[in-house]
Amino acid sequence: MRRPAITLALLLGLTADGAEAQSLSGAREWLPPGSLSLETLSQRPDERLEDGHNFYVAFGRLAFRSPDILGGTARKAGLSCQACHANGFATHAFFIPGLSDRPGRIDVTNAFWHLRGEDGINNPLKIPSLRGVKTKDRFGHDARTTSLRDFTRRVIVMEFAGDEPDGLLLDALVAYQEKLQPITETLQPVTLQQDLTDILDHLDTLRVPLAEENAALSGRIATMIRGQLGFIHERFADQDLRGSRSALEEWSRQLMGILQLTEDGRWPEARQRLADLRAAIATPPAAFAADLSRSLYNRERLAAWLSKPVR
Ligand code: HEC
Repeated sequence: MRRPAITLALLLGLTADGAEAQSLSGAREWLPPGSLSLETLSQRPDERLEDGHNFYVAFGRLAFRSPDILGGTARKAGLSCQACHANGFATHAFFIPGLSDRPGRIDVTNAFWHLRGEDGINNPLKIPSLRGVKTKDRFGHDARTTSLRDFTRRVIVMEFAGDEPDGLLLDALVAYQEKLQPITETLQPVTLQQDLTDILDHLDTLRVPLAEENAALSGRIATMIRGQLGFIHERFADQDLRGSRSALEEWSRQLMGILQLTEDGRWPEARQRLADLRAAIATPPAAFAADLSRSLYNRERLAAWLSKPVR
């Protein structure tokens, strides 16, 4: 479907079950109203990965959650692979008015995402689960692509207007997707605790390029982690939740500082600062516990926030 349809949807203020976007404010700004739903923002399927993690899997997991590997509207709206394929499952309630005909279906070959990808057809497709994707030898509804790596590249570049991914990024995304073994879907509440545990895992991933003394990769990973901290920050939307907000801002600044050290070639210091940051996040300040009930990790608060008019 073309852009006018989106505009029409906007004018009509169509609402429906919406998309899981990790960026609340990005999605509010860039997606039509009705694209965010309480269900997808307050719970997600249990992830459980196959054993045998390495750096590739961990970096792929972070990249899968990072909108900045995509381009165009997806990136601006804060959508990542994770938004449609939450923890490797299909996000059944994903719905963007004008681009979806039913929840869980979306037109990915649309000018809304990428001018070059527009095929002139209104063709929403069912979002597939990526669980067990390792054992498949054909990808996509047309089964034309025979390699997960090629399909992943196509998703980034052709569907979502991202920059050409380099070999490492593709290796990592493939390694992560191959760890998504088929399991029964069990929904878990989205919690601050899980989100902070993920940040600790991402910081452990950053240790690798710091040990290798690879400034470019350190910068790339640190930037992705700052994006994830930003998503947590958005859940503390209320300006009064100053304690939590400033802790998150401070951690993000610390990451910037580490990035600066790597650029200056001050590696031992950078590694020490990362260890300190990890320790700080592992024992978060008491403000978080105090602020949690007033944050958007609280389902009622989130529901109220979602029902507020956009502007
Ligand atoms: C806006 C929602 C959306 C986003 C974001 C998204 N996908 Fe998808 N994905 C889909 C849809 C819809 C299909 C079905 C496309 C088709 O059949 O051709 C799909 C298909 C796939 C498939 C094929 C699976 C199969 O069994 O054939 C893979 C692999 C995949 N996506 C990986 C990714 C990766 C990796 C990212 C991030 C780089 C991503 N997707 C981002 C919606 C999305």
